[in-house]
Amino acid sequence: MNNAAVAQELGVPQLGLFGTTHQLVRPPLKWAGGKTRLLPALRRSIPPAFGTYFEPFMGGAALFFDTSTRSAVLGDSNPELINFYEVLRDSPELLIEHLERLTISESEFYRTRALEPLDLTPIQRATRLIYLNKTCFNGLYRVNKRGEFNTPFGKQTKVNLFDRENLLAASKALQFAKLKCADYLTTVKDARRGDFVYLDPPYIPVSKFSDFKRYTKEFFSGEDHEELADAFTALAERGCYVLLSNSFQEETALRFSRFRQQKVLMPRFVNCKGDGRGNVTELLISNYEPQI
Ligand SMILES: C[S@@+](CC[C@H](N)C(=O)[O-])C[C@H]1O[C@@H](n2cnc3c(N)ncnc32)[C@H](O)[C@@H]1O
Repeated sequence: MNNAAVAQELGVPQLGLFGTTHQLVRPPLKWAGGKTRLLPALRRSIPPAFGTYFEPFMGGAALFFDTSTRSAVLGDSNPELINFYEVLRDSPELLIEHLERLTISESEFYRTRALEPLDLTPIQRATRLIYLNKTCFNGLYRVNKRGEFNTPFGKQTKVNLFDRENLLAASKALQFAKLKCADYLTTVKDARRGDFVYLDPPYIPVSKFSDFKRYTKEFFSGEDHEELADAFTALAERGCYVLLSNSFQEETALRFSRFRQQKVLMPRFVNCKGDGRGNVTELLISNYEPQI
């Protein structure tokens, strides 16, 4: 099936990745480290043809929603996030019904934040996640050592919690996806020759204020980044197309010196203060020649 036919089946005008420059399905969540602004560079860095698409650090999954590729394996270690995508894939109308009942206020935010996810049904958990994500400070998913969400209220009551059409389009895009709540190594276990693996791990912290590794109660440490470099090499040796993005650091460039590298300047909007709107240099690393 060609891309136009897939786009027709998805009910979107054309897939974002091939031949168009705008996004057709936007990520339903705002995610720290989300790659929406990097999409033009990512689109140019995708292999021209591939088998299954693997995104084992999916977060907001900006590239997946942009490609809406038919065969995909998506994973993340955050159970709330994976539950949300499962509910969105399987019961979008029910999720929208729940979202339509919500009101935004500081007291409602803290009442919702205090709920224990494991006491809730999957649909309630998904509703809670989207509510907290849209109304918390900077959309930041941050948890304490006990795994409890602890980002404060964002103090904005005129927030659009969801876009019905976009949620339905995202749900359709997910119909073909396998979702895994797992460590990234488990998610990519079945990647084979010709498959495309996009690795977008938590950033290597650039300063002591960097909040990017606090997605889950387990931090993604320097050692984890070394292990990831080994995983990249192993996937490349298996014949997969592998693309990795991270903030540019000399250490990273050196670690991947045998692979293709591209520096991209990108505006950064999420940091611990929320006001550090400077540019950041991203590094794209691949084991194949990008399309450019
Ligand atoms: C930079 S974000 C990914 C952003 C995503 N590409 C987007 O467009 O929004 C990194 C993600 O990795 C997840 N993560 C952290 N450690 C992980 C691990 N060991 N295995 C799988 N996922 C992990 C986090 O929960 C977070 O959602």
